[in-house]
Amino acid sequence: MKKILFVLTLVLSTFVFAKEEVNVYTHRHYDTDKALFEKFEKETGIKVNVVKASADELIKRIELEGKRTPADVLITVDAARLHRAKSKDLLQPVVTETLIKNVPFHLRDKDAYWYGVTYRARVIAYNPAKTDVNELSTYEDLANSKWRGKVLTRSSSNEYNQSLIASIIAHNGEEKASEWAKGIVGNFARTPKGNDRDQAKAVLAGEGELAIMNTYYMGKMYNSSNELERKVARTLKIFFPNQNDRGTHINVSGIGVTKYAKNKDNAIKFIEFLTSEAAQKDFAEANYEYPVNPNVEASELVKSWGDFKADTLNLSILGELNETAVKIADQAGWK
Ligand SMILES: [Fe+2]
Repeated sequence: MKKILFVLTLVLSTFVFAKEEVNVYTHRHYDTDKALFEKFEKETGIKVNVVKASADELIKRIELEGKRTPADVLITVDAARLHRAKSKDLLQPVVTETLIKNVPFHLRDKDAYWYGVTYRARVIAYNPAKTDVNELSTYEDLANSKWRGKVLTRSSSNEYNQSLIASIIAHNGEEKASEWAKGIVGNFARTPKGNDRDQAKAVLAGEGELAIMNTYYMGKMYNSSNELERKVARTLKIFFPNQNDRGTHINVSGIGVTKYAKNKDNAIKFIEFLTSEAAQKDFAEANYEYPVNPNVEASELVKSWGDFKADTLNLSILGELNETAVKIADQAGWK
């Protein structure tokens, strides 16, 4: 009898608890994320299973897996990538009161296919010993011939610059954006190479004056195990462009529910948790980003870069303009 009861309990518990899980495909690989996922498990009893890979690999994988995908949510960076997942029909829209309250409109997809969880600004890093901050103003000004041979940035094959160009198109129109791209290419200190951090290192080395980069790399370098990176982060300053007009270009780390999610309710609870006041600071701190939840402050290091006005253009527009941005970069000869 006891044995039968035991087996019965086992079968029942399998039925009751086996489905309480959420499968997360993420490009993020931070200990803080792991701790936060564990907190979610403890609070909700929903097990978080994580698959980590690069964003492009994850998108490809969900595409190949089709209806059989185990993924319930996709976490990745940049509105352009999130838009790609949306336009490949890999995500589904979800709307809840909590999500709408936690994530301001401009930081989520306008059709609710994805939500930002943290954001970053694309800024200008400069060496105050070499460059007078009063000379800095806008992204548009980077095309001014006074910066000839002084602008450092990575290749336009990267989404970060594609989204920056897309924001210029959204605000100034395609023709002006095209002129701008040609102007900035004419001001490059060198043929684009390396990542955002390499541009900042090149400023310190005197190869150019202005590095276009995402804010969180300053945080990463500040706490890096590499001595040169720590020096870069302690020497260079961050300038937030376009403070007197639309604000600085920003982008997100975002999350969306997959189209064929088997655990949709849990996926929604998971996104609500990540954007909640309780989780936001921890989540942002892992990568030195800004929390999307307006009631949560950024970490001390991030706050030390100063307050700034962010561009409130809805980020899904950057995804929609991505192809045009790539075309403009190619025509301008932006490698
Ligand atoms: Fe990055």
